[in-house]
Amino acid sequence: MSLLMISDLTAAYGKAIVLQNLSLRVAEGEICALLGSNGSGKTTLIKTILGMVKATAGRIEFDGKPIQGMDTHRASEMGISIVPEGRKIFPEMTVAENLRMGCFHEDRKEVIQARMQEIYHLFPRLKEREQQLGGTLSGGEQGMLAIGRAMMGAPRLMMLDEPSLGLQPNLVELMFEIIQRINQERSTTILLAEQNAKRTLEIADSGYVLQKGRIIAQGTAAEVAINEVVKQAYLKADSSLINQES
Ligand SMILES: Nc1ncnc2c1ncn2[C@@H]1O[C@H](COP(=O)(O)OP(=O)(O)O)[C@@H](O)[C@H]1O
Ligand SMILES: [Mg+2]
Repeated sequence: MSLLMISDLTAAYGKAIVLQNLSLRVAEGEICALLGSNGSGKTTLIKTILGMVKATAGRIEFDGKPIQGMDTHRASEMGISIVPEGRKIFPEMTVAENLRMGCFHEDRKEVIQARMQEIYHLFPRLKEREQQLGGTLSGGEQGMLAIGRAMMGAPRLMMLDEPSLGLQPNLVELMFEIIQRINQERSTTILLAEQNAKRTLEIADSGYVLQKGRIIAQGTAAEVAINEVVKQAYLKADSSLINQES
């Protein structure tokens, strides 16, 4: 069954239409890759799901219920969390305070404590830095903190917006391994927006490729990886989507 179902979605900034008749499904329990070069509409799609950008047409359903136009602050309560583009941790707050922001609607102390312990178990580095200010962490640690914060609400759907961007290669690999672990160990459904198509398709179950706000290819991750249209389009348009060997 689809946890997230988007049908014929159109979204615009003023008069500039950015997403056009976009349909997409994310099945419960899977990792769905959302690929596309810079400016293709990945972030806009995520923001539209969260209600931060208004859809001008179409339908967004989460767990069978329409959610288009919802207040953004309700997303977390409903079980949708976001690891935003650029991580956007709170630099003036400690690691623990940043994590706490990930479940502001939860006030049961024991639940919050248990979740924090789970996150510290997954990211021992964050435990070591628990009382340090977010702004003093390295890029990789901030990435872990942004993921930890998103896990605090025990989401059913976690959307990650280019989590590997700007990280050193060894940290990029760690990031993909962590995303895969969260999916496997916690059965969290994942929508992963990335430009690193090759590595993303290796951990994903299904995938969509966006170009100028339209889906130009979709299928299982294996199908998308060998899709000739994708290879052709991205051989010209975006070197970051080219399989290095091709
Ligand atoms: N706040 C905004 N106002 C107007 N246009 C925007 C805004 N944000 C993004 N865009 C435009 O929307 C298109 C899609 O951008 P975006 O969703 O950020 O793509 P991606 O995340 O794939 O790089 C681009 O053409 C971009 O210039
Ligand atoms: Mg983006």
